[in-house]
Amino acid sequence: MPATVVIGTQWGDEGKGKLTDLLSREMQVVVRYQGGHNAGHTVVVDGETFALQLLPSGVLYPFITPVIGNGVVVEPRVLLDEMDVLKSRGVDCSRLVISGSAHLVMPYHQELDALTERHLGKNKLGTTKRGIGPAYADKAARIGLRVQDLLDAKIFRQKLDVVLKEKNAILAKVYNRLPQSADEIAKHYLDDFAPRLAPHIGDAVGLVQDTLAAGGGVLLEGAQATFLDLDHGTYPFVTSSNTVAGGACTGAGVGPRQVDRVIGIAKAYVTRVGAGPFPTEVSGELAGALVERGHEYGTNTGRRRRTGWFDSVMMRHAVRLSSVSELAVTKLDVLDTFETIKVCVAYDTGGQRHENLPWHQSILHEVQPVFEELPGWMADTSGVTRPEQLPQAALNYLHFIADQAGAPVTHVGVGPGRDQIVRLQP
Ligand code: GDP
Ligand code: IMO
Ligand code: MG
Repeated sequence: MPATVVIGTQWGDEGKGKLTDLLSREMQVVVRYQGGHNAGHTVVVDGETFALQLLPSGVLYPFITPVIGNGVVVEPRVLLDEMDVLKSRGVDCSRLVISGSAHLVMPYHQELDALTERHLGKNKLGTTKRGIGPAYADKAARIGLRVQDLLDAKIFRQKLDVVLKEKNAILAKVYNRLPQSADEIAKHYLDDFAPRLAPHIGDAVGLVQDTLAAGGGVLLEGAQATFLDLDHGTYPFVTSSNTVAGGACTGAGVGPRQVDRVIGIAKAYVTRVGAGPFPTEVSGELAGALVERGHEYGTNTGRRRRTGWFDSVMMRHAVRLSSVSELAVTKLDVLDTFETIKVCVAYDTGGQRHENLPWHQSILHEVQPVFEELPGWMADTSGVTRPEQLPQAALNYLHFIADQAGAPVTHVGVGPGRDQIVRLQP
C-alpha cells in the first residue's frame, strides 16, 4: 500500500489534524514530516479537545506508530510536555519514534525569532516566535544540532560551543542582549531531555520504508500549508519549510513513486494568521461573523485569524503544486447561516483577468478578486452524516469548488467532532 499525504491547501488551520485522525483508522504509521511546534492540530474526540503541536495526529490510536520525521524541527521541552499531557489524559505515547536526523530547536532560535520580528518593525512577518525560521536557517547553514546529538554528550557540547559563540555575538552586538549559557543549555538538553527522549530516537526512514515494503499504511501529515511554503508561498510571509506534498518525500524519506494519494485540506472559506497578501480577505461584520462562527483564533498562539472567501485561483495552484488527488472541504457548517456565499474564480488587475496565480508578488499584492455569488443553504448541517442529507445548495457549492479547483471533493467537515465528517463519492 503506497503512502498517503495530507496537506493544507491555503494558509494553515484547514483541519489537517482532524482528517489525519480520521484517515489514521486505515493506517499503521503516521508521520509528521516538516514544521515544528508552530503547528497546532486539533482533534476533538467525544467533546474532548486534543491540540497537538509536534506529535502526529494519529497518536490517539493505540495501533498507530507515531513518527516525527527528519524534516521536522523539534523543541524537546515542548515535545516532552505534550507527551506528559497526553499520558495524563490516558494516551500512550510509548510507541513514538523520532528521527535522529530531525533538527533541534534551541533556546537561541526562539530568542532570535522574537528579536528579528521586533527588528523588522512594521515589516514583521507575524511568526509564531517559536524559533522555527532560525532553526531551519541553521540546518541550511549546516550548524544545526540534531536529535541524534542528544545521544552523544561530547559531540553535542562541541557543536553547541561553536554555534553559541556566534549566536552570543549576534545577541550582544546586534541586539544588545545578554549571552546564553552553554552550561545551562547543555544541562537541560543533555540531563533533562536526552534521557527521556533517548528510547524514542531511531531510524524513522527505516521504519517508514519497512512498513511500506510490508504493505502497511503510512500517512504523512503536513503542517502549515501551501501558501506558507518556503518556495511556493507568499514569500517572505511564509514558514521556513516545504509544506507542499514534495516536502513529505524529503521530510519523511519516501520517494515520489511511493505516494499515490494526496489529500488537500481546504476550508470552505479561507483564513490566515500573521502578515502577508490575502486577495479574498473580508473585514468588518462579515469577518466578525466568520471568526465567531468558525472560532477563528489560533490553536497555538491564540491570535485572531484573518478571514476571507474561498479562493479558486489559489486552490487550482495548490492542486497543481502537490498533484492533489482529492479535496477534503472542512467547516462547511460555518457557512450555514449565510444567505449568499462568494467564491473567487479569477483575479483582475486593471481589466486583465488572471485565471492562474500571478508569479510576481507585486501583482499578487494588487489583484482584485473576481467573485461569483452562490445561494447559501440557510440550514444546520452539523448533524449531517450522509451526502443525501446535505441541502442541495450546499452540494452545489461543493461541486462548484471541485470544478474550480480541478479535484474532486471526497470529504466534507460539518463540525469539529471526530465523526462530523461526510464522505462524498468523487
Ligand atoms: P490544522 O492546523 O489544519 O490541523 O487545523 P486547526 O486544528 O489549527 O484548526 C481547525 C479548527 O477547526 C479546529 O478548532 C478544529 O476543531 C475545527 N474544525 C475542523 N473541522 C471542522 C469542521 O468541519 N467544522 C467546524 N465547525 N470546525 C472544524
Ligand atoms: P498549522 O499546521 C497557521 C504562520 C505564522 C506566520 C508564518 C511564519 O496549525 O496549520 P513561523 O513561526 O512558522 O516562522 O511563522 O506562518 N504559521 C501558521 N499559520 N497555521 C500554522 O500551522 C502555522 N504555522 C506557521 O502565523 O504567518
Ligand atoms: Mg493549526
